[in-house]
Amino acid sequence: MPKFHNEPFDEATLTKLGLFRQYSRAWLSISLTHWRTPYETPEQINIFDFFAGRGKDITGASGSALIIVEEIRAYCKRHFERKSSAPVSLFFNDHDAENIANLKAHVEQLRCPKGCCQPEYTQLPFKDALEQHLPLMRRPDTANLVVMDQFGFKEVTPHVVARLAGCSMTDIIFFISSSFVYRFCETPEIQKRFAINPEDMRDIEYRTIHRHLCEYFRDKLGSQTYHLAPYSLKKGSDIYGVIFGSRYPLGLERYLKACWRLDGVTAEANYNIDGDLAWDGQQALWPDENVPKKLDIFKRELLSFVREMSPDNRELYLFCLAHGFPGSRARKVVREMIASGIIQTEPLSSTARAQAAALYLNYDAYTELPRIRFRVSDTP
Ligand SMILES: C[S@@+](CC[C@H](N)C(=O)[O-])C[C@H]1O[C@@H](n2cnc3c(N)ncnc32)[C@H](O)[C@@H]1O
Repeated sequence: MPKFHNEPFDEATLTKLGLFRQYSRAWLSISLTHWRTPYETPEQINIFDFFAGRGKDITGASGSALIIVEEIRAYCKRHFERKSSAPVSLFFNDHDAENIANLKAHVEQLRCPKGCCQPEYTQLPFKDALEQHLPLMRRPDTANLVVMDQFGFKEVTPHVVARLAGCSMTDIIFFISSSFVYRFCETPEIQKRFAINPEDMRDIEYRTIHRHLCEYFRDKLGSQTYHLAPYSLKKGSDIYGVIFGSRYPLGLERYLKACWRLDGVTAEANYNIDGDLAWDGQQALWPDENVPKKLDIFKRELLSFVREMSPDNRELYLFCLAHGFPGSRARKVVREMIASGIIQTEPLSSTARAQAAALYLNYDAYTELPRIRFRVSDTP
């Protein structure tokens, strides 16, 4: 049995798996539910776990593949009447034959008795499994969730992410050992996957390395519309992390909500990523120092964005998501700025006039015509 499964999952692994669970739950509730209009409904729903492991750790805690099976079962138990008729396929891959045999046994015991999802197993190197399944993910009538819980950093490269981002409705969530990329940046092994200038790397604060690596993946996507968001995990002196990706603002919103539930200060890490003086319940001496840096920077950047762009509610919603603030968090910040006379709103429709207090910073409003415009106040 490989070492990874021969011992209990450590704290950081449990946090990572918790995030996988939260996001797969949110993804299933969107993707399995009968959609509003027929043209949006996927014909086929697929979940791919390319590094599926053997199912459980030595204490019986579920790994990524069993988490998916448990969450589908829970969905069917609670919401079966809402479920769309689209078939659901689960693709579990691991290059280790013993892992796949163990996983199969666990899945058969646990899977939903309604039999509405079909598991398939492959025992291939990741690259081959990806090639085999890409044509299915590219079909415009499929909705796909791709989990890539690799060891280290070698398999999920910017090229792999760009190929998945180019598929139709495909969300990804993957793990990467960011501090290895940081430490061994100059080696040919890293350089052939991540063409990062070692000089640039030296300027990065170590604790923020995973955030920067996520930005690197984003840069490599060029003009592709695909949202990426990080979550950093510290284990001893090493920094690892999860990167999430989706073409859809709703996917990003759901992921960010899961992150805010885990870390109420930055939604970005299981440690003090920004070196905030007030962190983990501690209070700084001066009240100003109790404002987390992430919130402080967000407020300043939001104000510049409003000053320069006078955005409508759809544009501001996207700006907030890109800065890690889902609608509920963003509304609180914007309301405070309105209350203190820094920002003002201007209705763009008669319904918006009637509901001036609603800021329309949410996904439903994003899918409709713009309702209000935000401007810096004339008389602060
Ligand atoms: C970090 S573990 C994943 C554990 C699993 N997701 C879980 O939660 O229990 C990585 C797994 O990927 C498999 N693996 C490593 N390299 C691989 C490769 N290149 N292709 C396919 N599987 C690989 C290993 O056998 C191992 O089970």
